[in-house]
Amino acid sequence: MKKGLFSQMIATYTIIIAVSFIIVSGLLSVWFESYYFQQREDELYRGAALIKPVAINYMQGGMSYDFLNDTLQNLERYFNANILLVGKYGYVYAVSDETNVKLLDKQIILSGDIEQLRKGNIIARKDVYGDTFNMPVHTYIVPISDNSNGFEGAIMMNTSLSEIKRPLIKVYYIIWVLATFAIIIACIVIYHLSQKIIVKPLGKINYAARKIANGDIEKRVEIKSEDEIGELANSFNYMADSITKIEKNRREFISNVSHEIRSPITSIKGFIGGILDGVIPPEKEKYYLSLAYDETQRLTRLVNDLLDLSAIESGQLTLNITKLNINEIIRRTVIKFEPKINEKKLVVDVYFDKDDSYAMGDMDRIMQVVTNLIDNAIKYVVNEGKVSIGTKIKGDKIFISIYNESNPLSEDALKHIWDRFYKKDKSRTSKVSTGLGLPIVQSILTQHGEDIWVKNVKDTGVEFTFTLTKANN
Ligand SMILES: Nc1ncnc2c1ncn2[C@@H]1O[C@H](COP(=O)(O)OP(=O)(O)O)[C@@H](O)[C@H]1O
Ligand SMILES: [Mg+2]
Repeated sequence: MKKGLFSQMIATYTIIIAVSFIIVSGLLSVWFESYYFQQREDELYRGAALIKPVAINYMQGGMSYDFLNDTLQNLERYFNANILLVGKYGYVYAVSDETNVKLLDKQIILSGDIEQLRKGNIIARKDVYGDTFNMPVHTYIVPISDNSNGFEGAIMMNTSLSEIKRPLIKVYYIIWVLATFAIIIACIVIYHLSQKIIVKPLGKINYAARKIANGDIEKRVEIKSEDEIGELANSFNYMADSITKIEKNRREFISNVSHEIRSPITSIKGFIGGILDGVIPPEKEKYYLSLAYDETQRLTRLVNDLLDLSAIESGQLTLNITKLNINEIIRRTVIKFEPKINEKKLVVDVYFDKDDSYAMGDMDRIMQVVTNLIDNAIKYVVNEGKVSIGTKIKGDKIFISIYNESNPLSEDALKHIWDRFYKKDKSRTSKVSTGLGLPIVQSILTQHGEDIWVKNVKDTGVEFTFTLTKANN
């Protein structure tokens, strides 16, 4: 058996049960013994009541010694106690049993007892009665008093204790055997119950935990009980689910990152390799070097985005919250993108509730959000399409929306657009996209305690909206 919770539990319960049974059995035995002696004394009291008139009759000379002796012998057999009659001063004058003949005419009543008897008290003892007897006896002495003469002596009835106790011992035996059985059965029941309710389920959870720790992350615990152990198993499975999810994300992330890094490196290697071994003609070298340069820029962007994301998500990045004019940020960002806007011949609308809308936020980070979103709008808008950007104040929030004409996003895109490395069209956008822009935007806004969402607008375009908290004047 494993030492631990289980053996401690068994030991504790066993001790509790054993102690309770021992106490109960002990009390029962003591109670039964006193009950038993009480019954015996009642019986002897009735016997004394029968002897009393006979003794008085004898003392008054109404009966011979032989007749008295006969009567006493009969009563001895009936009550199973040998009977001695003593006079007022404690001298024995009649015995029922031959072995006690030697006591005749001897003073055997202890002086204290005579005093008690004189006062009319009954005496009961369990001992050798002042060395009168050579073994422990139950002695019961009832005074005899006469209406006219008062105290006239006493009736002493003795029973060997071992004889009295014989039936008692049988009862004790039954009580203790039953108690022992009860303790053993209780232990067996406890053993099985605790195995079933606690030990085995805990073992299962333990086993699953080890399996998971060793990499078998699909392992789960199957416990259906409704108690705390069942709850523990549920929580455990829930935890295992999150671990599995995190592990899956991690693997996916690593594979994505590796993939994203591999393609530019392969291109760079190809271009430079081609130049070095002369496959690329000298007049085209510059062109291929510029392609290689673009790829290094893409790598830089990727690494910067990854570092940003990890910094934001690990909470290393503390926000420097200040009052900022979100409209001004939008205006400046749009100007920054003017060359691209002109290149794609886009129509860009900007509409504001007021000229200036002040919000609370980290200036650099909010600029990053706006830049990423406008960059996406310009990147994914159809050629010669429309982009509109606006802010609206509602209560203590400012809603910033960026709309661009485009094909509506699919169900799948709407679901995964915030995932790292999500790109709707891998081939077309691969040169300029990392799939990290929106996750960064979302992380920044989450860190600000703000919200962002995307929706298709009437099948003509896509609109991203995020919130900021209004600054108090
Ligand atoms: N304004 C938009 N219109 C249409 N599709 C968009 C828009 N913004 C993002 N997407 C889609 O979501 C994907 C992920 O965007 P993002 O995380 O910014 O990465 P990236 O811009 O590097 O591709 C994009 O590849 C594109 O397919
Ligand atoms: Mg982007």
